[in-house]
Amino acid sequence: MGNYMEKYFGKYTEEDLKQGRETLAGGSVGKSEDLLIVDQTGATFTDQHGKEYIDCTSQAWSLNIGGGRQEIIDVVSEQVQHTMHVRSGYGTIPKFLLSKRLADIAPGNLKKVSYCLHGSVANEGAMKLAMRNKPNRMYFLTPWRGFAGRTLATIAMTWPHPNNQFLPFMGHAVRFPNAYCYRCPFENHYPGCNFECARFLRKTIENSVDGKPIAILMEPMQAAGGMITYPDGYLQEIRKICDELDILLIFDEIQTAFGRMGRMFVSELYGVLPDIMTFGKAIGGGFPLAGSLHRTDLVDFGSQDHGFTFASFPVSMAAGIVTLGILQNENLPERSERMGNLFLAGLEELKNKYELLGDVRGHGLMIGIELVKNKKTKEPALDETGMFIEEGTKRGVLFGRSTYPMMSNVVKIKPPLVISEAQVEQVLKVFKETTEAVSQAYHL
Ligand SMILES: Cc1ncc(COP(=O)(O)O)c(C=O)c1O
Repeated sequence: MGNYMEKYFGKYTEEDLKQGRETLAGGSVGKSEDLLIVDQTGATFTDQHGKEYIDCTSQAWSLNIGGGRQEIIDVVSEQVQHTMHVRSGYGTIPKFLLSKRLADIAPGNLKKVSYCLHGSVANEGAMKLAMRNKPNRMYFLTPWRGFAGRTLATIAMTWPHPNNQFLPFMGHAVRFPNAYCYRCPFENHYPGCNFECARFLRKTIENSVDGKPIAILMEPMQAAGGMITYPDGYLQEIRKICDELDILLIFDEIQTAFGRMGRMFVSELYGVLPDIMTFGKAIGGGFPLAGSLHRTDLVDFGSQDHGFTFASFPVSMAAGIVTLGILQNENLPERSERMGNLFLAGLEELKNKYELLGDVRGHGLMIGIELVKNKKTKEPALDETGMFIEEGTKRGVLFGRSTYPMMSNVVKIKPPLVISEAQVEQVLKVFKETTEAVSQAYHL
């Protein structure tokens, strides 16, 4: 490891690294600052001391095909020798081929593709496209606790958020209570509730003083905001509302696309098609790439609507083509479902034993576990979750944690889809030990 660094960066000392860290602006280095990732292979990474971890975060849920893939290393090494950068208006062979392959696998009529490098920007693009299609409307709808990114427009679609002092800059978004059945906002019970939350949404729209909304922007499984899976039929109700009231539906599949929930796109799992779908994270195989797929019969982007200097980055596009190939050739969506079922069965068993484990939810390798102090009162176990993550890390498993202020009692398991059965067993073993350590420390 040291060899290539010194070869290209020159000699450096621990003091250089320390000073570099201190120079970083606020928010640049998170809590894992003592953990430097120096190598990645499959579902694991190695830190600067040579310790190996199973990565249940896939590094911001991006490394679906695993880290250190030789196929990605090969293609990007070749690509940079030919075309490293073209401005966004130019075509390249990787861009055309990736577009064709994405359109080939995209569900329904979502066959028009647009690119950028970040999920937040992809969501802004989807919002712009929706505005082109529903002119003269004034607002978007977004669910409670939804997350759409950290640009100004997507922060406005994201709530609750510690940066909400940025909200006034944007036009408004109306936030609706969504189907979070573990803590139903209406204190109702699925399936007897007859989707009270969806009926409330319909009334909210019908009673709006600002006319019709432009679109609903939502994640089909809500990730940052609590790992909330929707009950069967809920997304169909949302689709129905959009159709009947003439509103566009945008699915943010930035986390869920490319196999994470057992299908290439989660809209296939639920059988509900959006009008626009955004993607990001996993498609680049570790390289920055995001974008959207939209219905061919929508009014398209205008020429200057959504172009960026690096939006055609050929290296990411080349990596994207190879990533799609790996996902398909290795049946990774199907593997995600299989490994997810192993996790869910093991976690359900643990849930029945420990007071701390309030709810287990998810599909495929998109799993959330809500930690509570008491199963009856469901009081969120916030400090306990902090300890849980630390104890897991000590034992060689990096679990994810929702950082949303009101949802930070949710532990996440979203490893690369290439995780092996033995690694699943190891994660479950560590999960059990960690649950026991936390339960003992907090007398639960
Ligand atoms: C569902 C969802 N949407 C949008 C984003 C924003 O993506 P990016 O960080 O690439 O801008 C994220 C990132 O975590 C996300 O999880």
